[in-house]
Amino acid sequence: MNSRQLQALVRTVPDFPAPGIMFRDLTTLFADPAGLAATVDQLASHARSIGADAIAGIEARGFILGAAIAAACGKGFVPLRKAGKLPVPVIEAEYELEYGNDRLELDPTLIADDANILLVDDLIATGGTALAALGLLRRAGARVTHGAFAIDLADLGGSKALREADCAPFSLMAYP
Ligand code: PRP
Ligand code: ADE
Repeated sequence: MNSRQLQALVRTVPDFPAPGIMFRDLTTLFADPAGLAATVDQLASHARSIGADAIAGIEARGFILGAAIAAACGKGFVPLRKAGKLPVPVIEAEYELEYGNDRLELDPTLIADDANILLVDDLIATGGTALAALGLLRRAGARVTHGAFAIDLADLGGSKALREADCAPFSLMAYP
């Protein structure tokens, strides 16, 4: 399935969650068996091509793809959780995104020293979320040189910022 076919499965909802935001809703793609399989297959191929030792995914939508990619590659999955969910000591990072701010937390004991970790999320927009996740993974001792996303909202600058942080972004669909 090519990028245009995948895009046809994504629903766009204007003015959600705030006026002026064009919300790219992947639930319609995830509900489509061929669309979900193609998305996971293509991102898993990327994970294999960079020799990822493990996959890290960002709560909540990054869990849907990240865990599926990890299982497809025979690798483990590391969750970057929203605030207050992990039952163990964590490292944390606050960040801003296209429509608000939030906090991510990571259990650093889940990261093997110098592991090559692929960062996965459904979508990159301003990059606030991905950069916060990248910082946490690196603080925990991971090597994170690649990020993989279903959608890149390139005009919002996140993929450029990630590249400038020495983490190469890969995505299946680009929106202006
Ligand atoms: C969405 C999306 C990314 C983030 C991208 O998550 O899943 O994680 O926004 O935005 P950014 O590049 O501007 O940081 P959201 O915070 O809406 O949470 P959810 O996954 O729980 O829906
Ligand atoms: N996360 C940040 N911006 C978004 C958008 N425009 N659509 C869906 N998820 C997003």
